[in-house]
Amino acid sequence: MNNAPDSPFAHRHLLGIEELSPQDITAILDRADDYVDMNREARKKRDTLKGLTQINLFFEPSTRTQASFELAGKRLGADVMNMSVKSSSVTKGETLIDTAMTLNAMHPDLLIVRHGESGAVNLLAQKVNCSVLNAGDGRREHPTQALLDALTIRRRKGRLHRLNVAICGDILHSRVARSNIHLLNKMESRVRVIAPPTLLPAGIEQFGAEVFHDMRKGLEGCDVVMMLRLQQERMAGSFIPSTREYFHRYGLDEDKMKGAKEDAIIMHPGPMNRGVEIDSDLADDLTRSVIGEQVEMGVAVRMAVLELLARNVTNEIAGVA
Ligand code: CP
Repeated sequence: MNNAPDSPFAHRHLLGIEELSPQDITAILDRADDYVDMNREARKKRDTLKGLTQINLFFEPSTRTQASFELAGKRLGADVMNMSVKSSSVTKGETLIDTAMTLNAMHPDLLIVRHGESGAVNLLAQKVNCSVLNAGDGRREHPTQALLDALTIRRRKGRLHRLNVAICGDILHSRVARSNIHLLNKMESRVRVIAPPTLLPAGIEQFGAEVFHDMRKGLEGCDVVMMLRLQQERMAGSFIPSTREYFHRYGLDEDKMKGAKEDAIIMHPGPMNRGVEIDSDLADDLTRSVIGEQVEMGVAVRMAVLELLARNVTNEIAGVA
């Protein structure tokens, strides 16, 4: 395994893709590539984060992000604590900031936060004196998801530039879509969003994405087809006529997939609604679907960002400029 370069990542927090440069993104992905190899070995433990404390604070449910941050921290030797919000004093009315300040007083070095409000993680980062990593905030950003998606694409396609990437489905409620649009634009790929008008945010074109309402037209010539979950839990009201009608028009199936390039890959951040946004057989078709690979890349990417941020923390403690 390569030694990481001395200072490739000059950030205290990872709050969004928006504030990263293409060089930052490349540095994270290059380091994550090393960790993919390490994670495939029988012995996966290093002491890179030995002596550092990582707290995972998830105010919303998670399987992939929470588990992979926990594994990433443990494989790098950190002391990892998973804060159970359901059994914490949050249930007695303690606020996000008071909860964070309480944990901050215990001197963690890395705080991983998922929260339902857009901007909540940025606010929290201003209050604590450890590194904060955004594990998804409201509809705003999910930076490590976009990074693991980028790593998956780069390993499959050999590059991140000059690709046509279609992001399809519930764009309106999706922090995954926003982070991916930022990242793919920075890396000079073309992004198309495909959705019914009710599931698109106002001004989406200004994000740097071409808009399609017809899925067949939107998928024409695409290298990557990224499907999104219909986020029913964030919908107050009726955004689609029915899930059956939605699948008919916007669900990925064999017939609609014919418009994409022959070697196009199928992605989904999970969790999936099989038969709603994606046909179950396509999701499981390992000749095209890279959904399992995305999960694998998630651990490696989170190891890379933990390492890069922790290096700045340890330099700060040691008084290195
Ligand atoms: N993709 C993603 O964020 O999944 P989880 O909600 O399971 O973490």
